Amino acid sequence: MKSILIKNIGQLILGHTHAVKDSALANLPTVSDAFLLIEDGRIKDFGNNEIAPENADEIFDAKGGFVFPSFVDSHTHLVFAASREQEFVDRINGLSYEEISARGGGILNSARKLQAADEDFLFENAMKRLEEVIQFGTGAIEIKSGYGLTLDSELKMLRVIRRIKEASNIPVKATFLGAHSIPMEFRGDRKVYVDKVVDEMLPQVVFEGLADFIDVFCEKVAFTVEETERIMEAGQKMGLPAKIHTNQFFSLGGIEASVKYGARSVDHLEVVNDDEIKALQNSKTIATLLPSAPFFLNQGHFPPARKLIDAGITVALASDYNPGTTPSGKMPFVLSLACINMRMLPNEAFNAATINGAAAIDLEEDYGSITRGKVANLFLTGPLSSTDFLPYAFGSNLIEKVMVKGVWH
Ligand code: NIG
Ligand code: FE
Repeated sequence: MKSILIKNIGQLILGHTHAVKDSALANLPTVSDAFLLIEDGRIKDFGNNEIAPENADEIFDAKGGFVFPSFVDSHTHLVFAASREQEFVDRINGLSYEEISARGGGILNSARKLQAADEDFLFENAMKRLEEVIQFGTGAIEIKSGYGLTLDSELKMLRVIRRIKEASNIPVKATFLGAHSIPMEFRGDRKVYVDKVVDEMLPQVVFEGLADFIDVFCEKVAFTVEETERIMEAGQKMGLPAKIHTNQFFSLGGIEASVKYGARSVDHLEVVNDDEIKALQNSKTIATLLPSAPFFLNQGHFPPARKLIDAGITVALASDYNPGTTPSGKMPFVLSLACINMRMLPNEAFNAATINGAAAIDLEEDYGSITRGKVANLFLTGPLSSTDFLPYAFGSNLIEKVMVKGVWH
């Protein structure tokens, strides 16, 4: 039984034990002048520094620094074979994301590269990215397939994600995204590809236990609402709850459909109308906002976070780390974008990026807050003037130390 006592914490940010919405989202529970006791990788106790226990296997003096619960990044495409900076330059020269995608670039570009890559290469590169984001405060993560787009390559990608799950100290959730884009050879007969996703890929993915969730890119350049419903229904029957990419560029009905199938989350939501807000209001589906994508593409809209929050919808923040629309998985920068471009308050952004992200990938019981009994995934900064300083100081790296499962990382 190993115990670690962190003492002289300027502010200990506890966060909320369960997902929060409405006015609670703007409230961030903290303890000033605190101690934190960790035992066997879990939070054992905390309180005022004056009543800190005297003994522990390791005593660490935080010297007035702040301790935060780690971020839960509930939406990433961390496994990919190659970067896509040529498309970045193409967009600077005037092409849109949809135009690049229509001519076979975008997701299909990543799929060609991934199909040619071997598992070890994909695994090693994804582990390097994972290590980088852990250093930036991520303490739990979701990773999607979706750059395979054939049975073999989707399975290859998901096996790589399984290896990451086994190798990583932070929890990893896997999402099957066979319906990310229609490969060129099926564009004349889309149904043949959707049949493959439903009848060939999904059963094998489930048989091998490779996924926790199912995802579809519901968008004009990708899958229709009807196709999305068919895939969600098939996933649901096989025990995979849905997390759906929708409303990135257009409102097509993907939100209502996702709510109908009890999706855990609808992700992107850059374009949302009032009926869609109503549908979400009467549901348990979480709205996962990914502000790095419209920031990087500089063509869409930032999600109407204020409208969603004011309507009482549970909002999460995630990175969307992927080579096409978000070549970065740094959650502190996501927080800054949420505050600057979506007018979320720093406390709202912090809760959305921790406990609400945890709820969006079924990790709420063990992660997302500093709560007695939860896993000790946290990070430490130096002394700060306030927690608001974290998103304010965009681009600075304030994180000095990271702890994963009660071990300094
Ligand atoms: O979440 N929008 C769909 N999927 C990814 C981008 C994929 C890509 O361009 O490679 C996203 O932004
Ligand atoms: Fe995405």
